[in-house]
Amino acid sequence: MLTHDLKRSEFGDPKNSGNVMSREEANALLTDWVKNDRLRLHMRQVAHLMKSWAAQIENLDEKGQWKWEMAGLLHDADWDQWPDDHCRRIIEELERRNVDPEIIHAIASHGPSYFGVEPATKMDKMLYAFDELSGFIHAYSLMRPNGYEGMEVKGVMKRLKDKTFASNVSRDDIKDASERANMTMEELISFVIANQTSSP
Ligand SMILES: [Fe+2]
Repeated sequence: MLTHDLKRSEFGDPKNSGNVMSREEANALLTDWVKNDRLRLHMRQVAHLMKSWAAQIENLDEKGQWKWEMAGLLHDADWDQWPDDHCRRIIEELERRNVDPEIIHAIASHGPSYFGVEPATKMDKMLYAFDELSGFIHAYSLMRPNGYEGMEVKGVMKRLKDKTFASNVSRDDIKDASERANMTMEELISFVIANQTSSP
């Protein structure tokens, strides 16, 4: 169900292509808008996964990596204060700040079944894929005696099959996201385990 239908398909202005916020600016926006520590950690974890993917798999330069990281860092920025207006607020803020449309589109499409925007680019697809999976794997790390240490793909798969564990995380979205990313769930989980930490 499109609970947060954005009713839009174009985001940002093409003339702002290549415009990024500075790291200081992005962090200031995050601290200013998001008071919930757990949510801030989630956004930093997703940002770190995006940067890791951009560097290791896409072989992007530093600026390209920061674009991916920035999309991860700010994707849920409005969730804490304006849950009913989720995604619209941060999109409009980034448009006001003349941010690169690719970053805004990635944020707008990180939940196609909620926002009604299809992930199109690789960056869009990876943000969608990392979003739910990152939170799920973090929840799993919190119930393990050694956290992330020694975590295995099969342990995560087992928890995914247990519908009572982290029941708020949509298994359908994880499956849909991995299909769109053209990866198996196991491949995706393996990348998250290898690159996610509890203090990114
Ligand atoms: Fe998220």
